Amino acid sequence: MHTSGNTVFIAGATQGIGLALARRFQEAGNTVIIGGRRTEILERLAAEHGFETVTIDVTDPASIQTARDQVLAAHPELNVLVAMAGIMVAEDVTKPDFVEIAQRTVETNILGTVRLIAAFTEHLQARSESTIVTVSSGLAHTPLGITPSYNGSKAFIHLFSETIRLQLARSSVKVVELCAPAVRTELMPGGSQVEGFYPLEDYIEDTWAILSSQPDVTEVVIDRVKPLRYSEVEDRYAATVEMLNSHAH
Ligand SMILES: NC(=O)c1ccc[n+]([C@@H]2O[C@H](COP(=O)([O-])OP(=O)(O)OC[C@H]3O[C@@H](n4cnc5c(N)ncnc54)[C@H](OP(=O)(O)O)[C@@H]3O)[C@@H](O)[C@H]2O)c1
Repeated sequence: MHTSGNTVFIAGATQGIGLALARRFQEAGNTVIIGGRRTEILERLAAEHGFETVTIDVTDPASIQTARDQVLAAHPELNVLVAMAGIMVAEDVTKPDFVEIAQRTVETNILGTVRLIAAFTEHLQARSESTIVTVSSGLAHTPLGITPSYNGSKAFIHLFSETIRLQLARSSVKVVELCAPAVRTELMPGGSQVEGFYPLEDYIEDTWAILSSQPDVTEVVIDRVKPLRYSEVEDRYAATVEMLNSHAH
């Protein structure tokens, strides 16, 4: 993708990676519309940074349709969709709340992404150059023991991205997957304070360096995430699972 001159909608940008990426896109000369559930935060960010905003809950199909209609009415030139919204909640298959957490995870991370992409694909296909950006994780390839549904949801995003890319290969729509390492955000409470996680600014800088220097990149795998991303193909899966989970405890 080209990293300037686009009109970009980031669903899930009231904080964390989505907000930082929104600011980077804006700095690089793109028009940026940010979305999320918390309207009051969107209003503050609009005032502070000049973003356009739309309230969206990706777990609600009607909300996705309304947000899509609002974004496209105001920005018929929209050519980049970033499916950023996600949750990560610790869960335990032996505990009573397991299924409820798993369901929320699937509804947000999987169905939210699927419905969002489905809502915008017809429009994006009509643009001469457009991009769908998805967000997976190193945990799609090496599991963290406390988040089975989250890991599975990101494995879904990885293969889903690989597959819709095949279906869209003859169209104007590129599919770019961001495979993120553990980054200092509040995705899980306190995560922004964990020293062992990668600083958010560094993550954005590394990601941007790849996006801006490799216009045909399909999966953005920064160095920091390579140990998890390639553990199986580099034949060190068991040792990496062990390392990741002993570290987690
Ligand atoms: N941080 C990491 O270590 C890491 C690693 C790998 C992948 N990722 C992925 O990166 C993405 C962003 O995570 P983050 O770390 O930036 O987390 P974050 O700080 O918690 O941000 C999550 C964003 O998603 C939005 N969101 C959550 N549920 C939503 C819903 N139902 N509808 C619309 N928006 C929703 C939130 O906005 P509202 O609350 O306002 O709705 C928020 O802006 C996620 O997909 C996550 O899985 C993160």
